[in-house]
Amino acid sequence: MLTQTPNPLAVDLGYGAMPVTTLEWAARLRTVRSDLRVVGLEIDPERVVPGRNGVEFARGGFELAGLRPTLVRAFNVLRQYPEEAVAPAWERLRAGLAPGGLIIDGTCDELGRRCAWVLLDEHGPRTLTLAWSPFHIDCPSDLAERLPKALIHHNVPGEPIHELLTAADRAWATSAPHSAFGPRLRWRATLDLLRNQGFEVQEQRRRVRDCILTVPWSTVAPH
Ligand SMILES: C[S@@+](CC[C@H](N)C(=O)[O-])C[C@H]1O[C@@H](n2cnc3c(N)ncnc32)[C@H](O)[C@@H]1O
Repeated sequence: MLTQTPNPLAVDLGYGAMPVTTLEWAARLRTVRSDLRVVGLEIDPERVVPGRNGVEFARGGFELAGLRPTLVRAFNVLRQYPEEAVAPAWERLRAGLAPGGLIIDGTCDELGRRCAWVLLDEHGPRTLTLAWSPFHIDCPSDLAERLPKALIHHNVPGEPIHELLTAADRAWATSAPHSAFGPRLRWRATLDLLRNQGFEVQEQRRRVRDCILTVPWSTVAPH
């Protein structure tokens, strides 16, 4: 997506007290697209800092300051809002995207060891991804406390996200014999079990990597 768009723009929305992550994100994205424009937006005017390392900073909210980004990252922003605010915020963000653009609405812990994000395009949410450090998490449902606002209040019996986390924990426990080969290979066995149970689990791009679970939004959309 970033490689095919002319003059692509990436926005880090709600970068917080210091734009450290925005700068790191820009450096990583520019390994894919060296001429990428990156803008950090903050609703709090006191947090808007001068540009540096080729990254601009400005005041802005869900209206995206009138920009038309190809990629929007909003991490740990919507979690501060009530659940009812999610749908209108998503709608506003989607309306501001460049054609073919994507939004990542995510949540993580302070050290980035537990992450969860919803990927959205102009039509709505596409997927949910859970990603965690294999060496710091006991079981997949440890991610529950970091679910995005759209899901965190729905992790109760009878709701799809609860069903997914319960099945993932069970498959993880069943895959315990693979622990001898390390948690990453144990996770691959867990994904195979989940697939065999009918969960539409997306393929991992690399064979051995951190524990990642991506499913279509329809698998977890709240009732
Ligand atoms: C918890 S901090 C997250 C900082 C950073 N994204 C991170 O994940 O570490 C949330 C930030 O979002 C900002 N914020 C809240 N609502 C916003 C909105 N509608 N648009 C832009 N920024 C917003 C707040 O001012 C705050 O700085």
